[in-house]
Amino acid sequence: MKSWKTVIIPALTIAQLTSALDNGVGLKPHMGWSSWNVAQCNAASAKYALATADKFISLGLKDLGYEYINIDDCWSTKSRDSAGRLVPDPAKWPNGIKAVTDKIHSMGLKFGLYGCAGDKTCAGYPGNEGHEKSDVAQLVSWGVDFWKYDNCYTPCRQSPRPQTCTSPAGSTKTWYAPMRDAILGVQNTKKLHFNLCNWGRDEVWTWGATYGHSWRMSVDNWGDWASVERIGSAAASIHQYSGPGGFNDLDMLYLGSSKLNTNQEKLHFGLWAITKSPLVLGLDLDKISNSTLTIIRNKGLIDINQDPLGKAATTFRPPGSAAPVNGKIYPYWAGPLSDGVVVGLCAGTSAGTYSVNFKDVPGLGGSGSYEWREMYTGQTGKGTSVSFSIGLHDMRVIKVIKETKMEM
Ligand code: GLA
Repeated sequence: MKSWKTVIIPALTIAQLTSALDNGVGLKPHMGWSSWNVAQCNAASAKYALATADKFISLGLKDLGYEYINIDDCWSTKSRDSAGRLVPDPAKWPNGIKAVTDKIHSMGLKFGLYGCAGDKTCAGYPGNEGHEKSDVAQLVSWGVDFWKYDNCYTPCRQSPRPQTCTSPAGSTKTWYAPMRDAILGVQNTKKLHFNLCNWGRDEVWTWGATYGHSWRMSVDNWGDWASVERIGSAAASIHQYSGPGGFNDLDMLYLGSSKLNTNQEKLHFGLWAITKSPLVLGLDLDKISNSTLTIIRNKGLIDINQDPLGKAATTFRPPGSAAPVNGKIYPYWAGPLSDGVVVGLCAGTSAGTYSVNFKDVPGLGGSGSYEWREMYTGQTGKGTSVSFSIGLHDMRVIKVIKETKMEM
């Protein structure tokens, strides 16, 4: 389905769609929590949403910028009511959704829900296909702030439609457009954050910013080191598509699960932060360890992620360094900040000493002395280079600025 703009004034289409969802939402990567990796369908409840909101306050996460409490798949009943409306599962939402959003808003936080562009969600609950306008009206009436939109049971050459279509009947754009248009239709009453979850299909990074505010650029993070490698390495080549109002979403932060050790959790969080991914915790805050808590509360890293410039870091190749290997985390990363440059050093494939001369870092210019601060160790220094001994799968994140300007 084409938007009315495409039909009526084709000459203006590109310019208009570029700013289509430029509504002041998503100017920085969103931060929050999602229910999915906590206990899948079982966590899609008021109980989890409210308990997490409490934890956002008591653990100091809200003060650090964590804002969205996002409920993923399985929050509704298995069928719509006789009027065609989605019904919050009364066992999971005994007082409905609005009571929960009201409470969450009163705590200064925001609330997100999940839908799907197909006729069913990935877990088999009602999808939004053909109901886009009325479903968005319902979200608005509940006060929902954020809408993740999945890609299961969508138009497919296979019949019946499988959960995950391997031979789609068209571009995902076709079935994401009606929801984008429905969200545009309510801009005057509610500015929803639209999170596209088409798993990186159809090079979503090239058009995601005209459809929504953030887009999943890969299939799921399964929580293991292989996922961190697969997703983190893929972020390098699409860095240029992220910017205020539209960011590559590397998927939820799968920390605190025992599948990653502390070094791997640090690299996971650090790489997601510097590539300007949304920082969405996929873990049970009731069970979080002190070590994981320290990582997710790293203010220096959060500030880098939330830098107003909104430019994602990517890899660079210092003289003499080996070429990147597909699917592996390259050691050298850098990206611009509004007041300097962030350098990431990743021991993704081997422990060792990793050094960079600032003159080789994009954005730092050819000469001069710099001040730097490393976000995991707190080390600071001045000069023309840095060097760290880094354990296997660990990371160092260094903010660098011209000497004398540092405010850290
Ligand atoms: C897909 C998405 C996940 C999650 C599940 C829910 O796999 O990619 O992030 O939302 O569906 O069923």
